[in-house]
Amino acid sequence: MRIDGTAYRTIWPEADGILTVIDQTRLPHEFALVRLTNLNEAAHAIRAMLVRGAPLIGATAAYGVALALRADASDAGLERACITLLETRPTAVNLRWALERMRARLAPLPESQRLAAADAEAASIADEDVAINRAIGGHGAALIHAAAGRKAPGGPVNVLTHCNAGWLATVDWGTALAPVYAAFEQGIPLHVWVDETRPRNQGASLTAWELKQHGVPHTVIADNVGGHLMQHGKVDLCIVGTDRTTAAGDVCNKIGTYLKALAAHDNGVPFYVGLPSPTIDWTIADGLRNIPIEERDGREVSELTGRTADGRIETVRVTPDGSPVANYAFDVTPARLVTGLITERGVCAATREGLLGLFPERA
Ligand code: MRU
Repeated sequence: MRIDGTAYRTIWPEADGILTVIDQTRLPHEFALVRLTNLNEAAHAIRAMLVRGAPLIGATAAYGVALALRADASDAGLERACITLLETRPTAVNLRWALERMRARLAPLPESQRLAAADAEAASIADEDVAINRAIGGHGAALIHAAAGRKAPGGPVNVLTHCNAGWLATVDWGTALAPVYAAFEQGIPLHVWVDETRPRNQGASLTAWELKQHGVPHTVIADNVGGHLMQHGKVDLCIVGTDRTTAAGDVCNKIGTYLKALAAHDNGVPFYVGLPSPTIDWTIADGLRNIPIEERDGREVSELTGRTADGRIETVRVTPDGSPVANYAFDVTPARLVTGLITERGVCAATREGLLGLFPERA
């Protein structure tokens, strides 16, 4: 993706032992790069959400292992790195996937070979993420193209998305937004409704910022608006991302996704999920029972941060002092509410059979 004309990924090794990421906690008001140099800094970046989004969390963890091995490439060092990183965030399964892949590649090697192999494996994970998302973009763009064909000529296809499952949530392209970018490049007229996505406002702060950078027409809406828009025919399709999708097609994503799926179902609006294969948890089927839902600091609900008219970044409280708050970060949309899963191998039904049709090696 281009920022002010310069091509960027969201994460890249800048020099030996220096990993550079974009500090997403400062967007949209400031584009700031942060350099990570050791295990604790990588873990902090994930935990404090300088980097976030399931695929980017996985890539950061992989690079984080490579940073950790610079200090200690022993079996104990590798194990400590994997445990420390795995504990940072519980829901996105890409974290576990990336760490298992790093461990499987590195553990059999002698210590002297581990560092070079870790750098190479982390780079492969990042490159594969880009290729996966580009393919998701191609398959998803065909759905947007089909939606355009069902509309009166000239009118834009209205896509509703939740949270940020765009370029910033991955190494490049995004998952839910990859089809939007691909369709936009193909010249299909489109417009994106961007859910603000309280409490952390990933939609208002991040999705709006990256769509604006790319020149894609969009409108930010409060979280509760989507149902109203769907009732009035103003949404042609929804595309969201996912942090973990079960082998039976239950989709875990940012809190509030389920309510959008319910509204879409009630109004006959197709509801698609951009799903890179590392986000499939083949070990579970029942998303409601088996996916750990992250609960975060209540201050994300009771406080809001933004820029004042004179340019200062300020945090203000919006709840009464002493009112208890709860902060569930994700929810599960049952497979029956999902129209289709857009993977790098094509679009399939949100069912075990649908997924196995595209990934037969998992049977
Ligand atoms: O808490 P976050 O910002 O990490 O949550 C991100 C999401 O829920 C995304 O929709 C999901 O990770 C898919 S990213 C391509």
